[in-house]
Amino acid sequence: MKRRDFLSASVALGAGFALPRWGSAADSSGPYELAPLPYAHDALEPHIDARTMEIHHSRHHQAYVNGLNAAVAGTEWAEKTPDELVAMIRELPEEIRTAVRNHGGGHINHTLFWNTMSPQGGGEPSGELAKAIERDLGGFDDFATDFSNAAIRQFGSGWGWLCLHPAKKRLVVLGTANQNSPLMRGLVPLLGVDVWEHAYYLQYQNRRADYVKAFFNVIDWDAVAQNYAAAHQS
Ligand SMILES: [Fe+2]
Repeated sequence: MKRRDFLSASVALGAGFALPRWGSAADSSGPYELAPLPYAHDALEPHIDARTMEIHHSRHHQAYVNGLNAAVAGTEWAEKTPDELVAMIRELPEEIRTAVRNHGGGHINHTLFWNTMSPQGGGEPSGELAKAIERDLGGFDDFATDFSNAAIRQFGSGWGWLCLHPAKKRLVVLGTANQNSPLMRGLVPLLGVDVWEHAYYLQYQNRRADYVKAFFNVIDWDAVAQNYAAAHQS
């Protein structure tokens, strides 16, 4: 039986499942599978173009799923969720550690990415998340600046993140290289922007800053707030 793995990075830290926001998953060879996008390829235009979304999801994300499956299929590790595997990266045997870091990280990072964007996105958060951003990050404008800088200044490929430090119950903004997940640092990712060139080059070429600015127009703050609530309760 195939394992369904959903967006909540907090699952690995015991917060429980966030409800999936998409339907049945596509088939793949191994315990993990690529779920369909929760919206059409062109749904995020003009901010992210349809061709980029199609290639990004169906080829790049699928490749991470395939890579993770190849690494753990038939082993005891296939019983773990991708989130669990990534969070326990230092405990894994050397022969699968790199594959889990790259492909497992790629799988969970992209799953979060798709599920925190929406055609109805943009604007600013409200409620408890907005209060936490005010308290921990100096307000939305300061957060937006720090998050953008973390993404734009990430050298080479990587991600910009908004995370919760689960013990301190405080928000943090950071960047990570390649497909490294904040879970590897004990942080729970709530929102991430992919700044690999495959995420924006067709539309924006080398203008990463323009892409990151456009990303703010598709952020699904309700989804981010759900991630925050789940992580905060863990
Ligand atoms: Fe990507």
